[in-house]
Amino acid sequence: MNAKIAIMISGGGSNMQAIHQAIISGQIVADLLWVSSDNPQAKGLAYARQHMIPILALPYDKGRAEAEEILLQQIAHQPIDLLCLAGFMRILSPDFVAMCRDKYRVPIINIHPSLLPKLKGLNTHSRALQEKHAEHGCTVHLVNEALDDGAILAQYSLNLAEKMQENITADELAKQVLALEHQLYPRVIAEFAEKFNAGKGDLPSQNVKKYVGL
Ligand code: GRF
Repeated sequence: MNAKIAIMISGGGSNMQAIHQAIISGQIVADLLWVSSDNPQAKGLAYARQHMIPILALPYDKGRAEAEEILLQQIAHQPIDLLCLAGFMRILSPDFVAMCRDKYRVPIINIHPSLLPKLKGLNTHSRALQEKHAEHGCTVHLVNEALDDGAILAQYSLNLAEKMQENITADELAKQVLALEHQLYPRVIAEFAEKFNAGKGDLPSQNVKKYVGL
């Protein structure tokens, strides 16, 4: 049976689209059961609707506990094998993360626009430029109870020193890193699905993969 995955977004959903397209092309052998959003206006939801992907609305206006309860009910009712955060801008509670891991055995992964453990949190591109990092990029990591802190699964990097000589702006850098994210995230999920479908459902957390991008 194919791995069953779900995706959580808050905004543009371009990583979600990259994952979905990779499923359509056969790069990822998995079933996408639903996409959820904390934001009913998230642009990515239009894509989900167009492609008939079920949408799970999360009522964060009623508080995080209520929204997470909806998620847990969904996971209990229709089990998934992997939960992928893709531009999901809320912080999941430690209780939710622990329930997924310990009760439902669902790993949660996230894509972050920096070479973790450098530049946790927001505004990673402008901070990378301000702090003159020689390298920059993106990371897929397991989600644990602390922010941007779980085991690193894979990274794509670019040579920022070179790009700074050409006076790259934070916006341009964000675009270039996002293009790397669209390659990296499907790649990691494809590896997970391949192992899962072969009966070895663990994530390659002990074996960090680094790819050099642009
Ligand atoms: C990506 O850069 C992701 O790493 C960050 O937010 C952005 C979301 O982009 N967490 P999208 O919604 O996938 O287009």
